[in-house]
Amino acid sequence: MKVLVIGGGGREHALAWRLAQAARVSRVYVAPGNGGTRADSRYECIDISEPAALRAWALKEKIALTVVGPEAPLAAGVVDEFRAHGLRIFGPTKAAAQLESSKAFSKAFMKRHKIPTAEYEAFTHPAAAHAYVNAKGAPIVVKADGLAAGKGVVVAMTLEEAHQAIDFMLLDNKLGITHNEGEDGKASPRVVIEEFLEGEEASFIVLCDGRNVTALATSQDHKRLLDDDQGPNTGGMGAYSPAPVVTAEVHARAMREIILPTIRGMEKDGIPFTGFLYAGLMIDAAGHPKTLEFNCRMGDPETQPIMMRLKSDLFEVFWHATDGTLDQVELDWDRRVALGVVMAAHGYPLTPRKGDRITGIPPEAPDAVVFHAGTAIEDGELKASGGRVLCVTVLADSVKQAQQRAYAVAARIQFDGAQYRKDIGHRAVHARGSQG
Ligand code: AMP
Ligand code: GLY
Repeated sequence: MKVLVIGGGGREHALAWRLAQAARVSRVYVAPGNGGTRADSRYECIDISEPAALRAWALKEKIALTVVGPEAPLAAGVVDEFRAHGLRIFGPTKAAAQLESSKAFSKAFMKRHKIPTAEYEAFTHPAAAHAYVNAKGAPIVVKADGLAAGKGVVVAMTLEEAHQAIDFMLLDNKLGITHNEGEDGKASPRVVIEEFLEGEEASFIVLCDGRNVTALATSQDHKRLLDDDQGPNTGGMGAYSPAPVVTAEVHARAMREIILPTIRGMEKDGIPFTGFLYAGLMIDAAGHPKTLEFNCRMGDPETQPIMMRLKSDLFEVFWHATDGTLDQVELDWDRRVALGVVMAAHGYPLTPRKGDRITGIPPEAPDAVVFHAGTAIEDGELKASGGRVLCVTVLADSVKQAQQRAYAVAARIQFDGAQYRKDIGHRAVHARGSQG
């Protein structure tokens, strides 16, 4: 059977890679894919992105199953479009994707359903937002309401930073997100201002079929650009699985207090959630998780190590997930540690440089795969074409060994200006007792 993966990052490369190994899959299409999927005969790249055009292509090609990687096509309603034409697709509808695409929606949803998260208020008027920040004090967190490609969250350590963020997002509307109805009925930007939470973050990702939930292996990513969690926030500079901070107790709590109430709440609200649900957790010193955010897709780069560890047939898993029979699925994981190191372009995250030639990528090994993200083939050469370029992903018996293996592979790969962290997995090196 033919399958389609929508997207072109490292996450989609890893999903396509696992799907290509499935027993019933004859062909894997990736739209649009990247330099890595283009150069590999296991995949075929399709240059279509508009949902209706993709749907028309999928109908013509008799695509049996489609999986959506990024949030943008979900928020644009690609799942609704495919389903309206009888096509099988795994992902949330446009309405359900608001859990990620609107902070105001997801915060109000969590409040209504008593799901632990930071205290907050939503604002469209700068003066009210400034007054709220003054009343609450710093540190405090200012978030734009809408998809802002990672630029919409300011963790303000001082009041000055918080006021600047409010002016940037509300007064000057620098992010240009005005699709929400303001308090006065007009389209205007909106921010959510919330309590600063302390603790350790983890990515808690599950598959949902609208009613049943299957948790994926736990993972953690590294959001800051530089070693020791310094520098600006990025989409993620590396990830590993399992995440020791998610102990059996934290796992049970996250399922009971966050994931299940979310799925039940969405069902009750008439917008059942199908797809990957990713809860970004902040886990405090007592092991109590709170929800930092929901994503309605898999994490990038968390997907790359998670796919390395997945032993189950991914196509069959998605088949059950789109049939509403996830309760019949038990996922099988490699017991080893998987770790992925992102190699980013010069200037990432603000001004990634395109066009640097990439050499030295070793052939795939059972315990080491280099997933592509921002790469393209130009004049027969592999070149960097985006911020996060590659993700070197390995399997090993311990975090230490995984680090050694991943960094040995990364050292062989060359492109001008390549930047990567040297400490991916540092939180897990000495930790024990993770769940899955
Ligand atoms: P988000 O996109 O909402 O997950 O925010 C991006 C990053 O900002 C998170 O991964 C956290 O590191 C940080 N962050 C978000 N909300 C909070 C909060 N309430 N307290 C502390 N840090 C936060
Ligand atoms: N790695 C974080 C994310 O995918 O949102």
